[in-house]
Amino acid sequence: MTAFAELRATEYAYLDEQGQVYLDHTGAGLPARRQLDAHAERIRYGCYGNPHSENPTSLASSHLVDQTRAAILDHFNADPAEYAVVFTPNATGACRLVGEAFPFGKRSRLVLPLDNHNSVNGLREYARAGGAQTIYVPFSGPDLRISDDAIRQVLSEGRSRRSGGRGRSSAMGLFAYPAQSNFTGVHHPLAWIATAQHLGYRVLLDAAAYVPTNRLDLSTVHPDFVTVSWYKVFGYPTGLGALIARRAALAELRRPWFSGGTIHVVSAQGDWHKMADDETAFEDGTLNFLSIPDIAEGLRWLSEVGLDAVHEHVAGLTARLLTGAAALTHTNGEPLVRVYGPTDGDRRGGTVTLNVLDPEGAIVDERAVSKDSAARSISLRTGCFCNPGAGEAAFSISRRLLAGAVRRTTGTIDDYLQRLGLPSGGAVRVSFGLSSSPGDVDAFLGFIVDTYRDRPRTDTGLTPRERC
Ligand SMILES: Cc1ncc(COP(=O)(O)O)c(C=O)c1O
Repeated sequence: MTAFAELRATEYAYLDEQGQVYLDHTGAGLPARRQLDAHAERIRYGCYGNPHSENPTSLASSHLVDQTRAAILDHFNADPAEYAVVFTPNATGACRLVGEAFPFGKRSRLVLPLDNHNSVNGLREYARAGGAQTIYVPFSGPDLRISDDAIRQVLSEGRSRRSGGRGRSSAMGLFAYPAQSNFTGVHHPLAWIATAQHLGYRVLLDAAAYVPTNRLDLSTVHPDFVTVSWYKVFGYPTGLGALIARRAALAELRRPWFSGGTIHVVSAQGDWHKMADDETAFEDGTLNFLSIPDIAEGLRWLSEVGLDAVHEHVAGLTARLLTGAAALTHTNGEPLVRVYGPTDGDRRGGTVTLNVLDPEGAIVDERAVSKDSAARSISLRTGCFCNPGAGEAAFSISRRLLAGAVRRTTGTIDDYLQRLGLPSGGAVRVSFGLSSSPGDVDAFLGFIVDTYRDRPRTDTGLTPRERC
């Protein structure tokens, strides 16, 4: 039995005990049983108070919170003198902290590759409010990667307009991108960080989909802001993420308000306050002090299993899926599956997005796949996965068509899709993690063959979509 098969049979035994085929690790990771036991043990036998004071139970909480900050920095090999950890509810909360406090102005820009999660796309509303321009960098080809040249060109254009091409500017704006696409699994180059910084940008690296199965070493790359959701890394706890930020970049942010926990001193009648001068200035109210130590527990677990081993395990499962899917055909020889993005294992993670095709080559509505797979206890994702830029590119929708559809739509998703001429509004996403097994891959491929091979197009009688 391999080490991962053994873990599946013990720490993750609940999957097979319940007959679950879990294929949504980019949605959420799954917890090992020992993580849950450690949580129960700690709160059953300890006594923890609100961390904002000096009493013994408060200090016990503060101690564990501080230990967890240190464990996070250690996990990313980050120098505590350079980086700080801000606890947030999730990666989205980390993006919002940056967006609402970033010094966007008329002369700065927000640069976004088209392959971004909506929690990063949404930064453009803060940029707009500050008078800054948002520029998207398009995909470079059918692999749904973005070329280094395209990135460099867009970042440099702004530089020459702003500074006449002379010298370095320290406030070009913000460049934000995902280390791993949550749509295609593509790994975008970490070298873009230094490129953008050299051209005067602060860089937000959305690491939410990357860090569960890849090592991010903050001693070799130095993004200004890194966003993470812990439940995606090891399943538990939910409701906690982090903004891991360079202290110098954090010092440039201007919070739009103060609150309990964030201030050094405040006067009510004097209309004066002074923010805390460290990461706590970004942590509103009382921290989730009973769950934050579970992050340290999760990191311990990940290091025991070995992140590099997890990476290899997931790469193997991804290759098994891609090879298996490429071999699936209808009896007439037509392919059963269309994969979006790279179809090999090169520079990618364990997220694969595809559509099922009928014998005439038409896309099977992803809502039907969602219903059919659910009936087989398969958990996968359908839709556009909050990444409209990648979806638009996958379905080859032009900007002109989009502009027309946006102008005329009544506002429902179905109406919008009809105006785009799309038979199906989304795709099917399968993603792997620590607890996944080759059996999960085979169960998915078997489901596709059993359900769709040679099946002609049918009227699925599906209900309207409610959200993208
Ligand atoms: C790449 C990426 N960024 C950001 C997010 C947002 O994460 P959360 O919903 O935990 O804030 C996700 C979630 O799927 C993601 O995959």
